[in-house]
Amino acid sequence: MSGVRFTVHDFEEAARARLDPVYADFIAGGARDEITVWANEAAFARLRLLPRVLRGGAERDVCVTLFGERASLPILLSPTAFHKLVDPEGEAATARAAAAAGAIMIVSMASTVAVGEVADAARAAAEPGQAPPLWFQLYLQPDPGITEALVGRAEEAGCTALVVTVDSPVLGAGERNRRNGFHDLPPGMRCENLVDLRDGERGHVRQIAMSPEFTWEHVDRLRRFTDLPVLLKGVLHPEDARLAVRHGVDGLLLSNHGGRQLDTVPATLELLPELVAAVAGRIPIVLDGGIRRGTDVVKALALGAVAVGIGRPVMWALAEGGEKGVRRLLHLLRDELDDALALCGASRLADLTPDLVRVPGWASA
Ligand code: FNR
Repeated sequence: MSGVRFTVHDFEEAARARLDPVYADFIAGGARDEITVWANEAAFARLRLLPRVLRGGAERDVCVTLFGERASLPILLSPTAFHKLVDPEGEAATARAAAAAGAIMIVSMASTVAVGEVADAARAAAEPGQAPPLWFQLYLQPDPGITEALVGRAEEAGCTALVVTVDSPVLGAGERNRRNGFHDLPPGMRCENLVDLRDGERGHVRQIAMSPEFTWEHVDRLRRFTDLPVLLKGVLHPEDARLAVRHGVDGLLLSNHGGRQLDTVPATLELLPELVAAVAGRIPIVLDGGIRRGTDVVKALALGAVAVGIGRPVMWALAEGGEKGVRRLLHLLRDELDDALALCGASRLADLTPDLVRVPGWASA
């Protein structure tokens, strides 16, 4: 589908025009009253930017290095499930677009294309000689053999980091899905990473188990059987951030699951300063939830995130125009980020410092 998309919200509108409303609800929706869904975006709108002037810098650099790997954009594709719901090529199309933009894609454990095939698609689309940055998102499974098998698949595919989602001891209550009777993938689609995970399981697709039984002990165990950097996604309390550092976690993805788990938790942006203080520079923090504009990226980075993630925008863009849609989305956000940096008088991401952000109100005289 062609047509000019000027903003992330244009992608959403165009996607809604072509999607089954049940799937559009699955993407847009959150838990319960969706208070946190809206809080995420509202938090960005509430902050003001205070630019610097006359600082030179005709060229802007938006590259970021994470765990020794260079990405062309400080905007990651956060893990989202079920891409085939909105595009027949699913995560393969998303991965091609991300690789072409040099952006890190975090493949969901619940992807509808197996992680190995997603990696093949990414490699085919990357600049020659460039390894496309691909990470893998994981829910710890009660059967440790299954967790290990999944990590093995991610490693074999060439994923370079693991993102362990820890905010899901039970599945969030998506009331839109309940009302719509949307509980599972339609026939012909399945969570491909969960197929044949054990010998003798030919054709068997495991269910993703969410369980409240996990403790820091399980994180330690994971650390022992993989050398990949491990990030935790969904740590919100500063005390848990400190525990993560103590348990040797390599990074945090500060996320409230886009408001899809516990409703009424704070916006991620509101928590950022507290979490930045808690980890005190020992590990990097990536933030997701509500990023819709280049200025949102600037605000998050100014307040101490090293990069941000986007969830719903990717799904809308994929639904709107497949691989090309996601390419256009990433171009759009790169242009907006470049524009916001220039207007803030910044030429590198390191120029984004907390003094550029203000909470509205009258400045003191
Ligand atoms: C998600 N998210 C998610 N997170 C995760 O750890 N594993 C997953 O499989 C999924 N699946 C998923 C599907 C859909 C449709 C959405 C919208 C979200 C959460 C996701 O990674 C991210 O935290 C939020 O989407 C970020 O908020 P925004 O950008 O959507 O506001």
